[in-house]
Amino acid sequence: MYDNVNEKNADIPKEEIERQRAFISKIKDLNDEFEKKYSRKKTMFISTFGCQMNAHDSEKINGMLKAMGFADSDSEKNSDFVIYNTCCVRENAENKVYGNLGYLKHAKETNPFMKIALCGCMMQEDNVIETIRKKYRHVDIVFGTFNLYKLPELIYTNIETGNPVFDIWREHREIVEDLPSIRKYKFKSSVNIMFGCDNFCSYCIVPYVRGRERSRCSCDILNEIKGLAEDGVKEITLLGQNVNSYGKKLDENIDFAKLLRKVNEIDGIERIRFMTSHPKDLSPELILAMAECEKVCNHIHLPFQAGSDRILEKMNRKYTKEKYLKLVEDIRNAVPDISVTTDIIVGFPGETKEDVDETIDVIEKVRFNGAFTFIYSKRTGTPAAVMENQVPEKDVKEQFNRVLEKLNPIVFEKNKAHIGKVFKVLAEEVSGSGADFITGRLEDNSIVHFKSDKDVIGKIVDVEIVGSKTFYLIGERRI
Ligand code: 5AD
Ligand code: SF4
Repeated sequence: MYDNVNEKNADIPKEEIERQRAFISKIKDLNDEFEKKYSRKKTMFISTFGCQMNAHDSEKINGMLKAMGFADSDSEKNSDFVIYNTCCVRENAENKVYGNLGYLKHAKETNPFMKIALCGCMMQEDNVIETIRKKYRHVDIVFGTFNLYKLPELIYTNIETGNPVFDIWREHREIVEDLPSIRKYKFKSSVNIMFGCDNFCSYCIVPYVRGRERSRCSCDILNEIKGLAEDGVKEITLLGQNVNSYGKKLDENIDFAKLLRKVNEIDGIERIRFMTSHPKDLSPELILAMAECEKVCNHIHLPFQAGSDRILEKMNRKYTKEKYLKLVEDIRNAVPDISVTTDIIVGFPGETKEDVDETIDVIEKVRFNGAFTFIYSKRTGTPAAVMENQVPEKDVKEQFNRVLEKLNPIVFEKNKAHIGKVFKVLAEEVSGSGADFITGRLEDNSIVHFKSDKDVIGKIVDVEIVGSKTFYLIGERRI
């Protein structure tokens, strides 16, 4: 078995990308031969779990696989190459991967060409690797979050040796630029500005699987965005686990507010989004930059997680409820029409009904435009996993429902307030609800469905909001 579990930090020369390109071309030759012999292309299926960071990594995987000559397939079980880009933030995402792998075992028995690859955050957990080695022997390729760029080499090694290939690194080496990537949308794109996280919120596994925080230098980020703009991209989302601490470890004199101002100057870019913000690092300079940069969208995703100061401290969040509320007030004073969305966890160890009352109080005071609500999921290796007073599931459910009952009517009301007004909407895709409907986004990140031809996709158009539901708006195009 080709096995590489590296503990050390070492530098990867930039020529590494050239090496990988050579593997891509060798695999492409093999895939071309396959096509001649069987009169069909080899097909691939990418399944992505988790956050925008993973979605963006999957665009890089897609870029590499397409360069190798694989064609898209809409059926997982009939594909020749299936890859799961996994998430380990909560247990149910992990269980889904195991469930799917069981199902793929049978599919693989009927398709002798099928290769199965696993990557992403779950693969950085030792217990997961052990389980895959023992129980899921039909998996061919496994790699983690630090060595995505090596996919071509790993595929080639697997073809050459016929053996499973495991390549997991314990920490990152250097930020590799210029991977081939295929964007899901021609007109919008995510751009990584930093990787990893140093915050160690006590419930969260991300710092263990994504490594220490490191920022890309601003020139690489700005060049990438200029390239995207030349390629027709109008909207970019700057991605990082904690964008507000961008630049802290770089030698150059830069922070997130300065970066935003520089991105704002790039011709062709019309909308700038960013995520995720941590309340503890959100500076007055950033609030000012958001107010002054006309391309920065009027939306901020600002997770508060819990309202009780006691729980916030145990979560290691480093702010209080009062500080969070003040921050939202400052942001709203600077950008009055801003939409504020958040993440909330219910059922953290030791959380009582009274603590949840504090969470509900924050919901009432802020009146969020939207929120992702999560039931606390115990993650092995995090400090919270060994805290006393883990809350029984049935008690969590009750509190979770109380949170939703407060939240949903507020979100609904907030959505309703759009009715009768005309907004600029970036038309994104044909709506799932009907072929003559298009789905787009307002600047404030609300989703709207409106009737239009497909040729509107990629354009920013005027849409009047005529109806609303809890999670989306209904609009009519105004010309
Ligand atoms: N359990 C539940 N939710 C979690 N999150 C992170 N870790 C956990 C966990 N162990 C949530 C947080 C974070 C979002 C991305 O996922 O709310 O902001
Ligand atoms: Fe996890 Fe906290 Fe880092 Fe977000 S800031 S990734 S919740 S440790």
